[in-house]
Amino acid sequence: MPAINFMHPDGKSDRIETSDSESAMQAATRHGLDGILAECGGNAMCATCHVYVDEDWLGRLPAIGDDEDALLDGTAAERLPNSRLSCQIVITPDLDGLVLRLPERQV
Ligand code: FES
Repeated sequence: MPAINFMHPDGKSDRIETSDSESAMQAATRHGLDGILAECGGNAMCATCHVYVDEDWLGRLPAIGDDEDALLDGTAAERLPNSRLSCQIVITPDLDGLVLRLPERQV
C-alpha cells in the first residue's frame, strides 16, 4: 500500500501507510495524527483538513474542484498556492511517498 508523509510545523514527520482508495485525511485520522481535525468527516464542508502539498508533488495530484477551491478560502491558516484539502486527495499507488505539510493551525 502507498505510504504518505506528513510534515509537522515543528519539523517532525510521520510516515503513514494508507489503505485502498482512502483519502489522505482518512489515513491521517485513522492513525490519530495531530494536525488534521476533519470536523466534517470528509464532506468538504469544514476546511480543517488543510494541508500544503510539497512542490515536487503538486503536478501529480488531480485538479482542484470548485467546492474545494471555495472552501480553501476559509482555512484558519493562510491559503497558499499549494493548499489543498486532504479529504479530497485520494491516495493511489502513484502517490506513494507523497509529502504533505501541515499548517500551524486548523481552527
Ligand atoms: S474533512 Fe472537512 S473539508 Fe476535509
